[in-house]
Amino acid sequence: MPAISQLPRQPGVTGLVAAFALEQSERAAVTELIGQLAADFPTAHGHEYFRAVALACHHLPDRLRSFLRDRRGLEDFPAFTLAGIEIDDSAIGPTPDGWGSQPDPRSTAAQTTWLALSGSVLGDLFGWATQQDGALVHDIAPTPADEHSQVGSSSADLLWWHTEEAFHPLRCDYLGLLCLRNHDGVATTISSLDGIELPADVRSVLFEPRFQIRPDDSHLASRRGRSRPAAGKEADLLRAAEHRLEEMDKRPQRVAVLSGDFDAPYLSIDPFYMEVPGDAVARAAFGDLCRALESQLTDVVLQPGEILFVDNYRAVHGRKAFTARYDGTDRWLKRINIARDLRKSRAFRVSSDSRIIY
Ligand SMILES: [Fe+2]
Repeated sequence: MPAISQLPRQPGVTGLVAAFALEQSERAAVTELIGQLAADFPTAHGHEYFRAVALACHHLPDRLRSFLRDRRGLEDFPAFTLAGIEIDDSAIGPTPDGWGSQPDPRSTAAQTTWLALSGSVLGDLFGWATQQDGALVHDIAPTPADEHSQVGSSSADLLWWHTEEAFHPLRCDYLGLLCLRNHDGVATTISSLDGIELPADVRSVLFEPRFQIRPDDSHLASRRGRSRPAAGKEADLLRAAEHRLEEMDKRPQRVAVLSGDFDAPYLSIDPFYMEVPGDAVARAAFGDLCRALESQLTDVVLQPGEILFVDNYRAVHGRKAFTARYDGTDRWLKRINIARDLRKSRAFRVSSDSRIIY
């Protein structure tokens, strides 16, 4: 592998995003691996599919696995992209108008597997019982009713930058976004504290639990989905999760926004859902942090077939506003959540090998 300073950067993006592109022979190897999985799992769905993907990721090309494991271990880039798999725009079918409405998941099974395989090198894929009906692979596409909301299916308003599930202690370590279609060049935004020196006294305040946060709207009861377990452990866990979300919303706890190493802190922040009532010092520090992140907010315009991995402890992400057409040609992404250690969430999952967090 080249030295860090020699890694290619995402074109037009200063410093924050490393870029990896498959070479011809590697593309052929990945395509063959995807084909093998497609033969057994044509819809790229289900418990056994994700088990098979977790095994198969060890057969991805060495250079790709090395790139991903280095980013995971070195924590040198807050985000990184993978390119090299092409997409036939007509074959994937029209962009659905929101999650759960893709007519035939087989039309994007190969692309889903490209995302799931790469993500599995970084950790374990998981889903939330309270988001998109517990799906492990989410559709991100504009929905008419959500145009002005602060969820991934919005469009007309800026999606304010945030840590994914900042309200939740079990938030993902990495977020994976695969671009299926982006005719309008809609920009995903990325920022981090890399290269920014916040004064020590400001950092000290940000390390203290002085900041209120509420659950984000993607976990609202009205967006969760259709299937509900009627009884048993799943129903108990779901009731407990819904109760926790309600409590977090009604009586938000105070949390820290920085953690880990004082000199290279991890971030967890979602300003749209946060408040700092009755604490002028904390509010000022919060403002300093927001301005610092805003100062190096960077556009990443994903191309079809390209994957963006966001280190959810080191980067915030968002999206520029755009005008949706709802004619099947709008921007369409697939999203996954990845945990470095799924065991930490055991109390919130039905079984040790379940990937759904309640
Ligand atoms: Fe997000």
